[in-house]
Amino acid sequence: MKKTARAHTNIALIKYWGKRDETLFLPTNSSLSITLDQFYTDTSVEFDEVLDQDTFTLNDQPVSETERIKISKFLDKVRTFTGEKRFCRVESINHVPTAAGFASSASGFSALAAAAVKAAGTEATLEELSILARQGSGSASRSVYGGFVEWQMGEREDGLDSYAKQILPEGTFDVSVLSVEVSTEQKKILSREGMKRTVETSPFYQGWLDTVGEDLANIKDAIINQDFTRMGEILEYNALKMHATTLGANPPFLYWQSATLKVMEEVQAMRESGLECYFTIDAGPNVKVITTPKKEKEIEKQLKSLDVVKEIYPCRVGPGIRYID
Ligand code: DP6
Repeated sequence: MKKTARAHTNIALIKYWGKRDETLFLPTNSSLSITLDQFYTDTSVEFDEVLDQDTFTLNDQPVSETERIKISKFLDKVRTFTGEKRFCRVESINHVPTAAGFASSASGFSALAAAAVKAAGTEATLEELSILARQGSGSASRSVYGGFVEWQMGEREDGLDSYAKQILPEGTFDVSVLSVEVSTEQKKILSREGMKRTVETSPFYQGWLDTVGEDLANIKDAIINQDFTRMGEILEYNALKMHATTLGANPPFLYWQSATLKVMEEVQAMRESGLECYFTIDAGPNVKVITTPKKEKEIEKQLKSLDVVKEIYPCRVGPGIRYID
């Protein structure tokens, strides 16, 4: 029984930055994201008794042995959950411009969890899928749902209360996310390594922990009331604060390049001239600009005129997991 699932990527407005348990992927803070309509992963899974190990192709190519083992370890968690004993064939197609700094791990693990559970002949609730996906990559817990999504950190040691929940469905509060590519270089410090170093060494990390809960409560209120300005101010503030923690890490690091700053400055300048938009940045140099559908084209045009900008990918609020066969 071959099953295929589609999951979309997401962009965090309140960042997940730090783990309290690295094996179970339990975070030190709750986070909130928008699921994106244009970027997704389609994954097919088929369990088969003739296989003596799991196989994995990405965009029709077999992956490296290290990558295969990583996926196989994740599939062990699916086997524990479903009771399935056989190995499986996994085929994944990424519709994500990974070069633009969009991690495909969120859509990837979310689609894999959904397809594998279904292929094993099991039904899972979205909450259970979120818990499973989380154990492949933390941000994947949020890609199970469409719209605006909160990943509640939970308190339990077994992680059974650490899952995502929809705050507002897609089609309710229309926002536009422009992914602004300034560099296609592979990032030097992956988010996993970056957040670990920050938690362990940055004296600014406590400041993050002390205030991120308040940011989340405020932005939820703004989103529910569809207050774009308030949401924008909070998401920009939260992104800058996350990046500030990395400067205090030892050894210190910064994900930005000079081009990143140029885009940030342009966003602030556009805002001053009445074109309302805000930025957020993940663990890399590229910038995501949040605006309203009405202003999207004008803002895209202005950003394109910057010589540091290589490409812009516009997105709107997208859907949650679905099965496509
Ligand atoms: C900065 O989910 O990629 O994008 O759980 O170690 O796989 P792992 O990390 P990952 O981290 C995402 C970090 C972030 C912020 C966010 O998406 O919330």
